[in-house]
Amino acid sequence: MKQISQRFSVTYHYAAYFTENLFSIENSLLTDTIFSETPPAKCLFVVDSGIAEAWPQLTQAIRQYTNAHADKMYLTAILTIEGGENAKNNQQTLHHILEAIHTYGICRHSYLIAIGGGAVLDVAGYAAAIAHRGVRHIRIPTTVLAQNDSGVGVKNSFNAFGKKNFLGTFQPPVAVINDSKFLETLSQRDWLSGISEAIKVALIKDATFFEQIEKDAKALTARDSHAMQALIYRCAELHMQHIAQNGDPFERGSARPLDFGHWAAHKLESMSNYRIRHGEAVAIGIALDCLYAFHAGYLSESDTIRIINLIKNLKLPLSAPELFQQLGGDTYDVMAGINEFREHLGGNLTITLISSIGSGFEVHNINNSYMQQAIDSLRQAA
Ligand SMILES: NC(=O)c1ccc[n+]([C@@H]2O[C@H](COP(=O)([O-])OP(=O)(O)OC[C@H]3O[C@@H](n4cnc5c(N)ncnc54)[C@H](O)[C@@H]3O)[C@@H](O)[C@H]2O)c1
Ligand SMILES: [Zn+2]
Repeated sequence: MKQISQRFSVTYHYAAYFTENLFSIENSLLTDTIFSETPPAKCLFVVDSGIAEAWPQLTQAIRQYTNAHADKMYLTAILTIEGGENAKNNQQTLHHILEAIHTYGICRHSYLIAIGGGAVLDVAGYAAAIAHRGVRHIRIPTTVLAQNDSGVGVKNSFNAFGKKNFLGTFQPPVAVINDSKFLETLSQRDWLSGISEAIKVALIKDATFFEQIEKDAKALTARDSHAMQALIYRCAELHMQHIAQNGDPFERGSARPLDFGHWAAHKLESMSNYRIRHGEAVAIGIALDCLYAFHAGYLSESDTIRIINLIKNLKLPLSAPELFQQLGGDTYDVMAGINEFREHLGGNLTITLISSIGSGFEVHNINNSYMQQAIDSLRQAA
């Protein structure tokens, strides 16, 4: 037998930066992240329609900024695409971005700069990853959830066949730039919903962070930007550390601790036709898996109560009608999400649970009767 074997590795490096007024001309952060051997680098901006509406002066600011930094950046176009989950459901959106990459001659040395919520960043990142097998992309997240979780990671995605994130790539960005000013125009719903990803990562990794969120709950619901900045920073840091240090940045194995609470979340999002926001679904998913851990004897009653109370105090939802839907017999329909989760990951079913606040662990089986009890308990708690 003949064989030619090879082994190589690729090092990735990117940073998440925290700033204010990113497009004020004297702020050089964005232009500093752009590098081209033949400057100026072509830049295509993809902007979330929610941001475009909330910040009508943004387009003008981008034009002035790129003009002022014309030695490094060449603005080809500013494309506005529909914000929200529909960005990931609508084939036209993806086509629109790919077409712009084609029309404006965006190449592997050009930059696609996406500004928006997690959904727009996911589809824009996906388009950047597949066009020319990879165009450089910079993420400018504008929601709490995108700044503390989805925007700082390595995944890009698009929904297909009624399945969330069915299409996607692992493709790290060149840089992530969080501008706290953008958060000012978020609806209260989107301001709060991203906090659930911080609760998630605190529960599996960092009890001190969990205590801090408890202390700050009132300030957070009252839109205290200082408390929110601290939460976003620590949450982003824990996510980025996990990706870099946990030995599986591109999720080849079966474990996915950062998806704690997510098997139910993804199912509830699609069952509700995306009426339920990702962050809201994660809050419900966390509560459910904590109650499951309690019924299965892994988690103490006092920790379970603390977690449920924090979710309540943050005005995040604990349930939704879809959670109790039983069209398919005597089990709750949401439980089909367990197998869909396994299928999406491949390999063995691996669900992260917690044994105490700050300590995640994995199980490979879910006991249906404990899960039914957990759903019933959640109905009472809500
Ligand atoms: N890639 C990943 O690793 C990853 C991780 C977690 C979640 N996600 C994905 O992220 C998505 C959820 O992201 P999200 O919570 O940011 O919601 P979203 O992207 O759906 O945005 C919510 C709404 O806020 C609007 N908006 C955005 N920024 C605004 C601002 N500053 N002011 C006013 N309105 C604004 C949007 O137009 C939209 O209507 C889901 O699709 C989820 O699957 C991806
Ligand atoms: Zn999530």
